[in-house]
Amino acid sequence: MTPASVPSPALGRLRWSAATSALQIEGSRSADGGGRSIWDDYLEAPGAIVDGSTADPACDSYRHPERDADLASALGLNRYRFSIPWARVQPDGRGRGNTAALDHYSRFVDLLLERGVTPFPTLFHWEMPSTVEETGGWLARDTAERFGEYAAIVADRLGDRVAHWYTLNEPAMTTLQGYAVGALAPGKQLLFDALPTAHHQLLAHARAAAALRTRGATAVGLVNNHTWVLPLHDAPEDHEAAFVYDLLHNRIFSTPLLDGAYPDLEALGLPPLPVEEGDLTAIGGSIDFYGVNFYNPTTVTASTAGGPIPFDIVPTPGVPVTGFGQEWPIMPSALRDLLVDLHARHPQLPPVIIGENGASFPEPDTAARVDDADRISYLSGHIAAVAEAIDAGVPVEEYTVWSLLDNWEWADGYTQRFGLVHVDFATGECTPKASYDWYRDLIASVRTGA
Ligand code: NOJ
Repeated sequence: MTPASVPSPALGRLRWSAATSALQIEGSRSADGGGRSIWDDYLEAPGAIVDGSTADPACDSYRHPERDADLASALGLNRYRFSIPWARVQPDGRGRGNTAALDHYSRFVDLLLERGVTPFPTLFHWEMPSTVEETGGWLARDTAERFGEYAAIVADRLGDRVAHWYTLNEPAMTTLQGYAVGALAPGKQLLFDALPTAHHQLLAHARAAAALRTRGATAVGLVNNHTWVLPLHDAPEDHEAAFVYDLLHNRIFSTPLLDGAYPDLEALGLPPLPVEEGDLTAIGGSIDFYGVNFYNPTTVTASTAGGPIPFDIVPTPGVPVTGFGQEWPIMPSALRDLLVDLHARHPQLPPVIIGENGASFPEPDTAARVDDADRISYLSGHIAAVAEAIDAGVPVEEYTVWSLLDNWEWADGYTQRFGLVHVDFATGECTPKASYDWYRDLIASVRTGA
């Protein structure tokens, strides 16, 4: 699809962005006094990372901030989404901020501003100091207070130039993958006993939001991973399975922010969340925008295994897939459907920011100009779906590609490439792909109304 064939009137109102996260691109893990994080612990477990890699050097971004700022600015982005790792700023998870690390991010903010790109940092993109995990991590209520203190330290340094913040990235993934099944750090397998981490993360977001606002922030939000849940069969048991999965993946994390209340977990036999007086008021009033990360729909069927989990996730029939195979089906209409559904459930929806959308495909490891037609097709299909949602009245204001750069994809190591820019991880060479030029031209054409 060419830029001109993406429907443009609705897109004229969007801001454009691309995203990365610290662990996935920075390398130089202990530079400037960076502390150990839960991912340093997690990746040491045998077999935890499919290719046995570490996140060092990744894209070597900590040593090349100008390069990244140039790549963001040459795309014509309004904003660049990056993350600040808690363990660099507070290596022990407590006490004063680490000046050298704060200097680094302060300089990066200036590099972006000098190039006309608005910095849009995330404060928790799945990394916390190991010492915080040792005292309970997100299972401990106190972690919410400590996260608020960390947010205050960062904003004390950057708040004179940074007004827009994401607090947490995809708390559902931390709860479900990190604490329930152990596929991400910290690698716990607590099943439903992981659910308190949902509440403590949302509370942490609220504490951080309050700290950021008193330091000049004008737009604070959190970005949830959303999926569109499809029952495999049009049968009551599959609809029930879809209802439960939707609740666990989407609604536990969206409803408190948007309505100030949790969905009814006890009706499903799930344990109550550790909510204290005042928590839901703090969480309910805490966002200026609502962030949505979207990658793929999820098809479920009722489980016949007889275990505690009432659903099985199965391949979505009849659609193409990304580099993750059947785990990541491609269905752009699912993004439109979930946005329209979210708006219908929450008519007072604040401005929506698509905080991530993108896909990995098999691509060469060595430096190459990649003609990634699959990615262009994926992105243009999803951007068209956003335009349809806007036409249907959903207040989407910003769209973000994951990712600016090929990077270290968590437990999948270097095996999944999501970038607009190809990175040769052996040499550090960065080569824009065809999708980079496509996105740049799309942004330019939408801006000029071409
Ligand atoms: C969501 C996460 O925020 C990001 O870190 C990850 O790389 C992408 N999904 C792709 O899996």
